[in-house]
Amino acid sequence: MSRPAIARINLDHLRHNYRLLKQRAGRSEIMAVVKANAYGHEQYLVAPTLFEEGCRNFGVTDATEGSELRAIIGELESTAITLLSGLFDEDDAELCVDHRLTPVITEPYQIKLLTKAEFSGDIWLKFDSGMNRLGAADPVELFALAESSDLHICGFMSHLACADEAEHPMNLAQANSFLEICNHLAPETPKSLLNSAGLISLPDHTFEVVRPGIALYGAEPVADQAMGLKPAMTLTGEVMQRRDIQPGDAVSYGASFTAEQPMSIAVIGMGYADGIPRPLSNRGTVFIRGQKYPVIGRVCMDYTMVDISNSEVQAGDQVEFWGEHISANEVAAQIDTISYTLFTGIGERVRRVRA
Ligand SMILES: Cc1ncc(COP(=O)(O)O)c(C=O)c1O
Repeated sequence: MSRPAIARINLDHLRHNYRLLKQRAGRSEIMAVVKANAYGHEQYLVAPTLFEEGCRNFGVTDATEGSELRAIIGELESTAITLLSGLFDEDDAELCVDHRLTPVITEPYQIKLLTKAEFSGDIWLKFDSGMNRLGAADPVELFALAESSDLHICGFMSHLACADEAEHPMNLAQANSFLEICNHLAPETPKSLLNSAGLISLPDHTFEVVRPGIALYGAEPVADQAMGLKPAMTLTGEVMQRRDIQPGDAVSYGASFTAEQPMSIAVIGMGYADGIPRPLSNRGTVFIRGQKYPVIGRVCMDYTMVDISNSEVQAGDQVEFWGEHISANEVAAQIDTISYTLFTGIGERVRRVRA
């Protein structure tokens, strides 16, 4: 038997989340964002399930992820695979041709690479509308260059900086700025602005395509406006040992925790190489046998210790780090991060299995 470090992926919950998002999206198409191995949830499980639900547009990071996904879902019903970070070099342009990928373009050199590779498929043009991350420096120039090529502009895209704060003034300001650029260039061209949180913050700006990622996986994107999502992943390990320690005994590297009274601890066989964040040291909680227990001492590469005093917890018990009973958002809040980093930080050696 192999080490029980498992991310259980509940495909019914994934379906439930997709359906909720479909309702929110209305007539707008969903581009399911499945980059970074479906936010750590395993592309082989996630993409075919969403395809079965009717999803025909998937967003990944780059051409490497795109060609891997094409191998999973095939050419069926001309499913679009959108490269949200576009393309970087000639090899990427070839991959776009070979696997019928749809790059998001922000720079003139990318159009030149595609033209050289004789790519004549769909592209998105991405504009900055205030986030100052990826977006064309000169939308007019980029549009003109794309128009004069054999490429087909299938849409204009932008991305929101503050969508997870529903009332933030930047949301509407960005939407207006994006609309202004689009209307100046080609008002009829399809548009896409919203991620998961945007579906809550700017529900009137769904346009033709919306791009939810994190909500698919069941983490509520806006803290105080729950959509009713269900966690797609439950990350579990196992208690390897139960130990009794005495006052003055220290636990784990650096002896950062010292017992003040007799206590019982559990040694769990998962650590930071599995994606258990080290900042949870002396801070996090785990869920065992219907109850939460605090992490004590430093999280190690392969082990995490918790205080299980006055409990019946035994070696062999299953331990949940996040999922059904402790939400990823709750864990993230304990260490000032976001659920995205928890999901994408899960180690390769953790088995992803269908729940
Ligand atoms: C361009 C773009 N669109 C959509 C998404 C999905 O965002 P979320 O996971 O917040 O829904 C991302 C994620 O980072 C993105 O970069």
